[in-house]
Amino acid sequence: MNHYNIAVIAGDGIGPEVIAEAKKVLCAAAETDGRFSFSFTDYPWGCEYYLKTGEMMPKDALKTLSGYDAILLGAVGYPGVPDHVSLRDLLLEIRHGFDEYINLRPVKLLHGAPCPLAGVQPEDINMTFIRENSEGEYAGSGAWLYRDTPQEVVIQNGVFSRMGCERVIRYAYELAKKEGKTLTSVSKGNALNYSMVFWDQIFEEVGREYPEVETHSLLVDAASMFMVKDPKRFEIVVTSNLFGDILTDLGAAIAGGMGLAAGANLNPERKYPSMFEPIHGSAPDIAGKGIANPLASAWTAGQMLTFFGYPEWEERIVCAIERMLVEKKALTPDLGGSASTSECGDELVRVLGE
Ligand code: NAD
Ligand code: IPM
Ligand code: MN
Repeated sequence: MNHYNIAVIAGDGIGPEVIAEAKKVLCAAAETDGRFSFSFTDYPWGCEYYLKTGEMMPKDALKTLSGYDAILLGAVGYPGVPDHVSLRDLLLEIRHGFDEYINLRPVKLLHGAPCPLAGVQPEDINMTFIRENSEGEYAGSGAWLYRDTPQEVVIQNGVFSRMGCERVIRYAYELAKKEGKTLTSVSKGNALNYSMVFWDQIFEEVGREYPEVETHSLLVDAASMFMVKDPKRFEIVVTSNLFGDILTDLGAAIAGGMGLAAGANLNPERKYPSMFEPIHGSAPDIAGKGIANPLASAWTAGQMLTFFGYPEWEERIVCAIERMLVEKKALTPDLGGSASTSECGDELVRVLGE
């Protein structure tokens, strides 16, 4: 029996509501399977913690978290604490500190999920985004000069290292090779004459090691247009941190909405714990009402099971979600239903058990 110790940071807004359901799903999988079990340790870090202590998490938080097999995170950020403080001091601190340089985000239209695009079948939207997750536009490098004077200047640097680009691009090629899929790189070399020219060059260099992988290279503006007009052309996609952030919200929008969008922050070498969190934020507009969709978190829990070596469980969870979407019996309001968060989670556990 493999036992996994999971650190849980439910966070802010709808974070705790959806994480409660993700835990239910993990426990149900463990009980049914019998090969693995979980223990969860909850950490109360986030915006409320900040308002009490002046910090988003304690100074030794990474040390504490390093002892776990994985981190399950709900969402961070809430009105009352500036977003650049709450996200930099918690979410980005963990992603960067634990070198979780792969952000793996499936964009898959399940049967029964709402899609705003005309003439699109579920089979037409099945992409895996590999977002660079450790540097780029999120490196936090820059300056604020002559603050509050007429000469005020801000500089936000994009940091693209050879190692950083090579490793994420190589990961994407490996996945494309393994799954026999095409690989599309999304960049912006026509305007960003250092960073993105470098990215494109490395995409080509690494590609020489993978002659069997069919590749495409798109500018980010055209890529956004094609995601709407012709999503079928995308299979595996690799892109920089900021572009990946934006394109995966677009991906969520065409594949059923934020309530279905899962994501994993991976340290592939397993030197540090990886962190599993849905793509969506804390959704202050619906927080506390018990109507947040927990299915994105449940899928994210499935990604955790894949990472631990049980990919059949992610498949089972996704199949169960798909069945719920088709049956439409216990969906939350964002998907046109009237179920509560916990009713939706309970139904998922029930369907999984069948
Ligand atoms: P958001 O994703 O929280 O919400 C966008 C819209 O989607 C809202 O209308 C919301 O109600 C809806 N939505 C999101 N998740 C949903 C779910 N599970 N079920 C039903 N509806 C859902 O994005 P935002 O409003 O731009 O950000 C709110 C806060 O969250 C900000 O502080 C932001 O910085 C933060 N944020 C955190 C994360 C994270 O922790 N990973 C990600 C994105 C945003
Ligand atoms: C996401 C979020 C984060 C990001 C924010 C909250 C810092 O939008 O995980 O997509 O930009 O990476
Ligand atoms: Mn985002």
